[in-house]
Amino acid sequence: MIKATNLKKAFNDRKRGQVVAVNDVSFEVEPGEIFGLLGLNGAGKTTTLRMLAGLLKPDIGTALINGIDVTRQPEAAKAKLGFITGSTGLYGRLKAREMIEYFGRLYGLTRNESSQRTVKLMETLGMAEFADVKCDKLSSGTKQKVSIARTMIHDPEAIILDEPTAGLDVIASRSVVDFINNEKARSKTIVFSTHVMHEAEKLCDRIGILHKGSIITTATPEELNNKSGCVDLDDTFVKLVGDIGA
Ligand SMILES: Nc1ncnc2c1ncn2[C@@H]1O[C@H](COP(=O)(O)OP(=O)(O)O)[C@@H](O)[C@H]1O
Ligand SMILES: [Mg+2]
Repeated sequence: MIKATNLKKAFNDRKRGQVVAVNDVSFEVEPGEIFGLLGLNGAGKTTTLRMLAGLLKPDIGTALINGIDVTRQPEAAKAKLGFITGSTGLYGRLKAREMIEYFGRLYGLTRNESSQRTVKLMETLGMAEFADVKCDKLSSGTKQKVSIARTMIHDPEAIILDEPTAGLDVIASRSVVDFINNEKARSKTIVFSTHVMHEAEKLCDRIGILHKGSIITTATPEELNNKSGCVDLDDTFVKLVGDIGA
């Protein structure tokens, strides 16, 4: 289970003064469920997810991964967690396969475990063709697959993805989406952020609309559309955000 309770984070920005990036955000996600954080650029998605993943300390509030407080027990929480962003660094000189195996070793897997798990992930993500290509020679879609595989090497129960399809073409996006769905079927607890409405609509069991740091509503995609009287999430989003003042 992933649980965010009253998360708040403000930054001191040189130009803008104090910026409240995330204000009192709470939600809970069960195993086998995909929760989407949907919001415009600057809404506070990344800040929320970084607090959930234990990469940023909240000013107020708590983040629990399977009951473990990520601030108090960061190592224990990280063992249960995979955090995927669109901008994960790879070591250019390592081959795709080596990169993934290397991370397995960092997570404490034996050489054997790491290489078996790497084979499995490369199969799931359709990476056979570029397993032996160096990371700096890969396209952005294939790089993202390597990033995902390396983050998932320890088969974490909770998965947090921050705009994992940003900048990917439709085929690469599709395989990331398929991967997320496959993990859901394996009873993983999943939170992901996007500003792509149709992606959220297709993938998420529930969506929290994040606007200016606050969740303005949480519901299933269908409930959101019913509530707004619109046929798709694009229109619903614009209406809900417009109603409270964009
Ligand atoms: N390190 C930082 N310093 C100052 N402001 C920040 C910092 N990180 C994020 N912000 C601000 O917090 C707000 C939310 O940002 P972010 O969480 O990145 O939103 P999103 O991921 O939804 O685009 C924005 O106004 C952003 O400029
Ligand atoms: Mg972001």
